[in-house]
Amino acid sequence: SIFSPIPGSDIAQHTPKYSAKMTVVGVGNVGMACAQTMLSENLLNELALVDVQEDKLRGEMLDLQHSAAFLPRIKIVADTDYRITSDSDICIITAGARQQEGESRLDLLDRNIGLFRKIIPELVRHSPNTILLIVANPVDILAYASWQLSGLPPNRVIGTGTNLDSSRLRFLIADKFDVSAQNVHGFIAGEHGDTSVLLWSILTVANVPVLNLCDKNGDKYNKETLAEFHKGVVNSAYEVIKLKGYTSWAIGYSVASLVKSLLRDQRSVHPVSVLANAFYGIDQKVYLSLPSKLGRAGVLGIANLPITDDEREELQHSAKTIWDTLEKLKI
Ligand code: NAI
Ligand code: LAC
Repeated sequence: SIFSPIPGSDIAQHTPKYSAKMTVVGVGNVGMACAQTMLSENLLNELALVDVQEDKLRGEMLDLQHSAAFLPRIKIVADTDYRITSDSDICIITAGARQQEGESRLDLLDRNIGLFRKIIPELVRHSPNTILLIVANPVDILAYASWQLSGLPPNRVIGTGTNLDSSRLRFLIADKFDVSAQNVHGFIAGEHGDTSVLLWSILTVANVPVLNLCDKNGDKYNKETLAEFHKGVVNSAYEVIKLKGYTSWAIGYSVASLVKSLLRDQRSVHPVSVLANAFYGIDQKVYLSLPSKLGRAGVLGIANLPITDDEREELQHSAKTIWDTLEKLKI
């Protein structure tokens, strides 16, 4: 070997304290955007890639491995066999059909639930202590299905939910007020889809409630104007899918932000898809996005925010929409 240990060293006794293994299932547009952002943010020591397309899988693995000179050392493996996913700290599932132009996310359910019935048990068999982070759509339904299929406690089964929608909102508000999106704080909650809920009452720019700010600017924000903003967020995905065929970069950064909070035990608050029936008067046992504190054990808690009665009702409507779809599923 090129390197020889100094005589008397005790190297074997020391293992790295921080070690993180991630599995990404599905090496399509989204899976590889997630993999790339996680490598760039130096979050992992090992990355396992799984897919059913063998050539694509090997090609993506090699292409990532070839970045070795530009990135911190990381082990990257790929196989159609789930054995390579063993002992993953987090498993990210992006496998599945994506919306074609004009399709809603709920339209994907029949095609994707069948995949999950196979994928989820395999992942949990090899990584019983893992956190499952669901990305494929319809993400709220598939996160619920993953919770049921995995048998894991609900804190360890999370959907990316409206973490992405909330970034789109913060982008639009930041653009409107010519300020950094890092100074726009607020959440879109509910379904990652057409019934998402914009929580205007707690949305702030530079810690100032937006609704007050709007009054100051003389932009008397009536319900219609506020609804326009929300429509801009809901239409974002449809617009990008129409233009480039799919969305990938923003979800890649959204997933990396969640993985960092989870792996590094940041206790930061993200709007993610969680088992919601104990909160905000939601009766149905559904997954939808609520502001959640995330750490190494997954969802550490749900924020009980002082939202308005209207906003609570909108969340309950979103839950009902998801429940109506869930009821047809015989998980
Ligand atoms: P894609 O078609 O580029 O990739 C899907 C990948 O899944 C393909 O490589 C395919 O071979 C693989 N796959 C299919 N069946 C599989 C199986 N049984 N096991 C393992 N891999 C399998 O699609 P794209 O654009 O990556 O989207 C993937 C999913 O992510 C879609 O459902 C899409 O709607 C969703 N998505 C969710 C977002 C969110 O905010 N939650 C944002 C963007 C996309
Ligand atoms: C998005 C869709 C694809 O929000 O879920 O990008």
